[in-house]
Formats: sequence, C-alpha cells, structure tokens
Amino acid sequence: MAILVTGGAGYTGSHTCVELLAAGYEIIVLDNFSNSKPESLNRVKELTEKDFPYYKVDLLDRRSLRDVFSNHPIEAVIHLAGLKAVGESTSLPLHYYHNNITGTLILCDVMKEYGVKNMVFSSSATVYGMPERVPISEDFPLSATNPYGRTKLMIEEILCDLFVADSSWSISLLRYFNPIGAHESGRIGEDPSGIPSNLMPFITQVAVGKLNELLVFGNDYPTVDGSGVRDYIHVVDLAQGHVKALERVMSSKGVDAFNLGTGTGYSVLQMIAAFEKAAAVKIPYKIVARRPGDVAICYADPSKAKKELDWMAVRGIEEMCRDSWSWQKKNPDGYDTKVISK
Ligand code: WQD
Repeated sequence: MAILVTGGAGYTGSHTCVELLAAGYEIIVLDNFSNSKPESLNRVKELTEKDFPYYKVDLLDRRSLRDVFSNHPIEAVIHLAGLKAVGESTSLPLHYYHNNITGTLILCDVMKEYGVKNMVFSSSATVYGMPERVPISEDFPLSATNPYGRTKLMIEEILCDLFVADSSWSISLLRYFNPIGAHESGRIGEDPSGIPSNLMPFITQVAVGKLNELLVFGNDYPTVDGSGVRDYIHVVDLAQGHVKALERVMSSKGVDAFNLGTGTGYSVLQMIAAFEKAAAVKIPYKIVARRPGDVAICYADPSKAKKELDWMAVRGIEEMCRDSWSWQKKNPDGYDTKVISK
C-alpha cells in the first residue's frame, strides 16, 4: 500500500517525500509542475536512495487521476497541491478557486470511489485572518482576508462536511505557519518562480546577489521593533509533522486541525540579523510602507500537535537561516542551476 502525495514536487512536498521515505513508506507523487520542477523529485530520490513513481497530473484531470488510483494501491493521501500566492490570488480569484477547490473536490470524489478515506490536508495559518491575540490555538475564530485564504478555509469546511456525511473518513488539517529552511544537504529547497513574495527566499536572493535590497514592509507595528512578527518553522520539522499526522489518520477517524508552528515569533528585523549571523552575509534593506493585508503579529500555540500528534518543532532560527542559505548558495537559480557549487 502506498501514500499518494499531491503537489509532492513543491517546497513542502519534496521535504515531506524525504521524510515519508525515511520513515519506510512507499509513495506516489502527483504534480502538475505549474509551480515546481521534476528535478526536485530526482533529488529526493538521490537523497533517500529510494525510487518511487511520479506523474504529471493536474487534479482537474479526473481521468488521469482515476488512472493513478486504479494502477496503485493507495491507503492515504497527503494533499499539498494548490496555488498559494496571496497577492496573485487577489488578481486571479477564479483561477485560485477552480484550481484549489475544484481540484480538491475531484480528488475527494476519486478517493471515495476507490475507498481511500484517509487524508492529511495542507492548510494554513492564514485561516485565522487577523487574530485578536497570540499565541493562536486551533479553536480561534476563523476568517480569511484574500481568495487564497478563503480557498483554504472553504476546503477545511468541505472536509468537515464530508466527515459529517460519512464518519469513515479520517482527516488532519495542518495549519502551517511560516515554513523556511531546507534539507541539510542543500539539495532541495524553496524555489519560487519570479520575484519572491515571502521573506526568506527574498533574503536569500539578496544574499546570493540576484536581488539588490530587501524592502521591509513597515516598522510601525506594535511589536518589539516595529516590524512584523511571524512564527517561522523549519520545513523539515513541518515535513515530519506530516508523517505524524499520517500515522494519526491511519489509526483513527474524525477531522482535526493542528497548528504546525514553533510557538515563537521573530520580527523581520530579527530575521535579518539572524540570517546575517548564520550566513556571514550583509543584507541591505530599506524600510517602506506596510504591505496591505499583513497582520502585526502571528505565532502558534503548538501544544495540541504536541499532545495529539506527539510532534513538536525542534530546529531553531539559526538552523533555519543556515539551511536556507546553504540551499540558495548551492543553487543560485534554484533547480535551474546548471553548475552546482559545493
Ligand atoms: C513574513 C513577514 C512581511 C517579504 C504568507 C502567506 C501565508 C503563508 C506564508 C501559504 C511579514 C515581511 C515579507 C518582504 C517583508 N503561505 N516581509 N518584506 O505574509 O506571514 O505569510 O506566507 O500558506 O498564507 O500569507 O509571510 O514571508 O510574505 O512575510 O518585510 O519582501 O515578512 O511583512 O511581516 P506571511 P511572508
């Protein structure tokens, strides 16, 4: 029996595949490669010395999706495939709703048809909207302030309704905080297309000389130094959280949400200082206006995942910065990098 990983070629996906293979699972990967590259999967195979099939399949292609289920004995699905750029979702709402929600509906349809009712779903802390206080626990009010966040919130609600209608489903909703870092080898990592919208890939591209300076979006927030505070979590810790959630969905029924964060917040300026220390590289930056839609402070109460998944983040900010830099330094052009520098 195998685990199907949708979006397995992506940043979280490739790291999750490494951890699943290391834990002894057989995997099958689906990806439409709209925001990822097959090279990431070749490197997963290199790192784990394990083979697995992967297919270029879009979840909107029901026929191809059914072919995968009919050709492989699948016992659970880790569903990571989805568009995830907040800003882009505002300008392309229909694309986001169709890709993320219709794709998930078709996936659930085919899972049901083949009797596969175990799912780990990639959700996001964005479903907490503008939290009134921190740390954030899973019972906080949910809301969304952009189409991307609304797709995550709607899918969570769809999956809850699915369980109400059929209690044989077992689903974990993983609310990611801010994933950064990379596998310690520097062979897989975050490879955003175009100019990065997220902080860490922007910093590493400044550090490697692809971008000139970081724009810090606001220093007038009610935080330790005025810049935005977030809960950065090492992507390998996040990936290991998926393995724990998989164990849970394969051994129990129900729908549960879990925060995957460290429980510690760092400001943008603190992240710049931490990265400069870890990479021994200066990051030129300029303070500019706030980015619309940003919250001042967001960090998790991760105690439910500790208690119910027996999982907690163990990698600190120094390791996150060091591993982000190791990936970018060795792969200045991401997976398109031709000459690999040691
Ligand atoms: C972090 C901090 C910015 C870039 C987003 C999505 C969320 C999730 C993670 C998918 C903020 C500041 C950033 C820059 C900056 N994605 N910043 N200059 O906004 O917390 O979360 O990514 O699930 O859904 O909303 O992450 O990395 O964009 O920003 O000053 O060039 O860095 O203002 O304080 P965010 P981020």
